[in-house]
Amino acid sequence: MIISVLKEIKKDEGRVAASPSAVRELCAHGHTVLIERNAGLLSGFSNEQYAAAGAEIVDVKEAYERADMVYKVKEILPKEYPYMRRGLIVFTYIHSNGSREQTDVCLEAGVTGIAYEDVIDRAGKFPMLRPMSEIAGKGGFLAACEYAKSTNGGRGRLYAKIDGLSAPRVTIIGAGCVGIGAAELAAGCGNMVSLVDVDYYSLEHAKMKLGPNVEFVQSNQENIERLVKQTDLLINCILWPKWRTDHLVSRELVRQMKDDAMIVDVACDEGGAIETCRCTYHSDPTYTEEGVLHYCVGNIPGAYPRDASVALCNSTLPYALAIADKGVVRALSEDAGLRRGLCFYQGQLTLEETGRKQDRPYISPERALGLE
Ligand SMILES: NC(=O)c1ccc[n+]([C@@H]2O[C@H](COP(=O)([O-])OP(=O)(O)OC[C@H]3O[C@@H](n4cnc5c(N)ncnc54)[C@H](O)[C@@H]3O)[C@@H](O)[C@H]2O)c1
Repeated sequence: MIISVLKEIKKDEGRVAASPSAVRELCAHGHTVLIERNAGLLSGFSNEQYAAAGAEIVDVKEAYERADMVYKVKEILPKEYPYMRRGLIVFTYIHSNGSREQTDVCLEAGVTGIAYEDVIDRAGKFPMLRPMSEIAGKGGFLAACEYAKSTNGGRGRLYAKIDGLSAPRVTIIGAGCVGIGAAELAAGCGNMVSLVDVDYYSLEHAKMKLGPNVEFVQSNQENIERLVKQTDLLINCILWPKWRTDHLVSRELVRQMKDDAMIVDVACDEGGAIETCRCTYHSDPTYTEEGVLHYCVGNIPGAYPRDASVALCNSTLPYALAIADKGVVRALSEDAGLRRGLCFYQGQLTLEETGRKQDRPYISPERALGLE
């Protein structure tokens, strides 16, 4: 198979889908790998490293035109639409439910789209989301440390234990991959961490990973109100259901936070769990609302392209190899978890969530592939 690795064109995106060592693996399996010139530069990988690993360095046109499969990070953007064609396999984060236009283009062109974010592993977890979540959680805590500095417009707080001072209180809502990532760093710096979740098993799992300066709290309105009022740093790591019109942390509660408190919304959940949150970019990441500094960057891993690329590639490569070695139909037939990621096939929508959200017809991946 000819596999093309593209340079990402989305704002603030420095990740690349394949590292040079992944290219070596793909080539060792007998595949041809084309790398768009400079695709890896922001992740610290030069064209020469890719060439030494066995890739051909090409321009974007050649990369798309010769590819059997494009191996990417972000969704398909308007500049890339003209390259979509029947049978082309697009393996990337697609988020088809978020873009009607992208869905139209991919269905009309007849591409085969397999979305990283919808693939599940044998444990029912999302293997291609997990590494980015960990980086986002850790990066979210580090961002709080950075923007709490007075030199960066913050209130001059250091989220760490300092002799003679009370340890700062950090409240983290959600004990999933993001929340545990944030809690590991917050606890490691000696903060008094409260990790809040609705799910008993998530808290039990988190307990095994975290030290004695972390308390595990059931999520309910009383506990949230008590913790939010006394916390120095509030980190949101849950996505609030879109249908809910209330909030876990209301504007009124934000108003009652400590004078020098800060909010980080890693879930970047606009008007969701925290009423005052709205998405920001790395170029202008913070704003103040109700007297509280907010940081709500939607693609935190984008600030750590080197490590994020390697971590993402570690989780995507086994699937890319399966698709390339076996072909789409066999790879998806043999792995129900990978099949779950199929969102477009021969002009048909195969992702129920997008069908419902965009009010379009859809069929199951099994039916599209002729397995039922
Ligand atoms: N900003 C970024 O760069 C970035 C990167 C990765 C993920 N994210 C986002 O971060 C969020 C969390 O991701 P994750 O991988 O940790 O998800 P996850 O599913 O692993 O964890 C979410 C946790 O929240 C808990 N939860 C749900 N409702 C709750 C409530 N009312 N109170 C307390 N806890 C509750 C769940 O039980 C679960 O343990 C998602 O919205 C994801 O899209 C953002």
